[in-house]
Amino acid sequence: MADTQVLVASNRGPVSFALAGDGTLSMRRGAGGLVSALAGVGGDILWVCAALSDADRAAARRAPDDRLDVPGVGAVRMLDIPAGTFHRAYNAVANSTLWFVHHMLYDTANKPHFDARSRRDWQSYEAYNAAFADALAQDAPPGAKVAVQDYHLALAPKLLRERRPDVKIAHFSHTPWAPAEYYRLLPDDIGCQVLEGILGADHAGFLTGRWADAFLDCCAVILRAKVDRAARTVAFRGHVTRIGVHGLGVDGESLRARAGEPDVAARAGTLREQVGDRRLIVRVDRTELSKNIVRGLAAYREMLAKHPEWHGRVVHVAFAYPSRHDLPEYREYTAAVQRTAAEISDEFGHDAWEPLILQVNDDYPRSLAAYGLADVLLVNPIRDGMNLVAKEGPVLSRQGCALVLSREAGAAAELAGDAILVNPFDVSQTAEALHQALLMPRDERAERCERLAAAATALPPQRWLADQLAALV
Ligand code: G6P
Repeated sequence: MADTQVLVASNRGPVSFALAGDGTLSMRRGAGGLVSALAGVGGDILWVCAALSDADRAAARRAPDDRLDVPGVGAVRMLDIPAGTFHRAYNAVANSTLWFVHHMLYDTANKPHFDARSRRDWQSYEAYNAAFADALAQDAPPGAKVAVQDYHLALAPKLLRERRPDVKIAHFSHTPWAPAEYYRLLPDDIGCQVLEGILGADHAGFLTGRWADAFLDCCAVILRAKVDRAARTVAFRGHVTRIGVHGLGVDGESLRARAGEPDVAARAGTLREQVGDRRLIVRVDRTELSKNIVRGLAAYREMLAKHPEWHGRVVHVAFAYPSRHDLPEYREYTAAVQRTAAEISDEFGHDAWEPLILQVNDDYPRSLAAYGLADVLLVNPIRDGMNLVAKEGPVLSRQGCALVLSREAGAAAELAGDAILVNPFDVSQTAEALHQALLMPRDERAERCERLAAAATALPPQRWLADQLAALV
C-alpha cells in the first residue's frame, strides 16, 4: 500500500455483504454521500470500516491481505472487531449516548444513568477506537492524509496521532454538536476524552457554523483549552487543531441520473395512481428519534382537523425506513409512528380517501419517485447535522415543491430563505406551515424550489471531501 495517500475511516463502510445458504457471499454497495465524495478524490484510497454483520465478518476473514476491492471506491479493509466489543461501542456508547447527547434526545428525569455497566461499555468504545487507530497506523504510508468520520470514532484521531505523528488527520462530525450545558451530562472524564480525542486531529470539521461554535464552547468551558473563536482554532497540550465548516450538499447530476432510471418511473406510476389528482405531502426518513416523525404526523392531523377543506384533496406519504432496531427506543418509536398513523387513518379515512400512506420498508427508488411528485416536502427534525432529504427533494421535484423545514436542521442555515421554517416542537405551527405550503401559488413554489435546488447542489460531496483534504497541509 506504499502509494495510498488518502485513508478514510468510518463505522459503516461503503459496502455490506450477504451470506447465502451455500456459503457464497454477495456484495452490496451503499449509496451514501461519502461514497460519491470519494469518486472525486482520485488516486489510491483505502477505506477502513467495521464489519457490521456476520456476513461482513466472513468477507473480512476471506479477503486476501485484509483488502477488498470495491469498484468505484478503491480498497476496503473491514475490521473484524469482536462482536461484544462492537455491540457495546456502537449501540451502547455511540448510538445510545453520544448520538443522544448531540441530538439532545434524553428524557433527563430518567436518563442518562451512568453506572458501572456504562464504564464497561466505555472501555469497549476505547478498544473499538484503538482497533481503528492500529489499522490506520499500520496501513498509512508516511505523510498520508486520514479522514476520520463521525461520533463513533471520536477517540481515533488522538490514538492515531500517538501511533503515527507523521500523518495528517482530519475528523468530521456529521451530527450536530451539543451545547456545553447539555454536553455536561456526560461523565466528566468521558466528556473530556471525547473532546481530547477529536483534538488529536489537525482539522476538525462540522457541517455548520452553529455546530462548530458549540464544539469550541465545549473545548473552552469543559476542557479549558485555548480557544480562538475568530480564527476557529483550539490549542491543547501543545497541539493546535483548526476547526472548519464544510456544508455537505448533493451531487445534482448523479442524483438526477439515478432518478431517471426505469425503477423510479415505475414507482412514480404506482404512487400517482394511489394519490390521484390530490395534493401530495411527502416525508422520507430513517425511523429515527431525532427525525420527529410522530410530531410531523400529529401536525398533519391537526391541519386536517383545522382545515377540513383539505379532506379528500390531500394525501400524506410518509416513508420511514427501519434503523438501529437493536435499540429498544427505536423499536418503540417505530411502533409509535405506526400507532399515530393508524389513528389518523381511522379518524379521517373512508372508502374514497386514504389520507395517509405510511411505508416502513426501505425502497430508495420509491423515495426518489416521491420527491419528483411532492407538492410539499416535510422535514421537521428535532435536531439534525444537515439533513440531505431537504436537499434531494427540491433537486428532483418536477413541478416545484414547497419545503417545510425545521429550524434545528443544519440545512436551515443554507435553505432558510426559501423554505417555511418551523420550530419542530410546535405541532400547531407545523400544521399551519403545511397549510400555507399547500396554498402557496404554483409560480412562487417553482421559483423557490429552483433556488433551493441551486443551494442544495452548491456544495457537492466531492468538493466537501476535497476541501477537507486540502485543509490538511
Ligand atoms: C447518521 C450518522 C452516520 C450513520 C447514519 C446511519 O447519518 O451520522 O454516521 O452511518 O446516521 O446510521 P447507522 O447507525 O445505520 O450507520
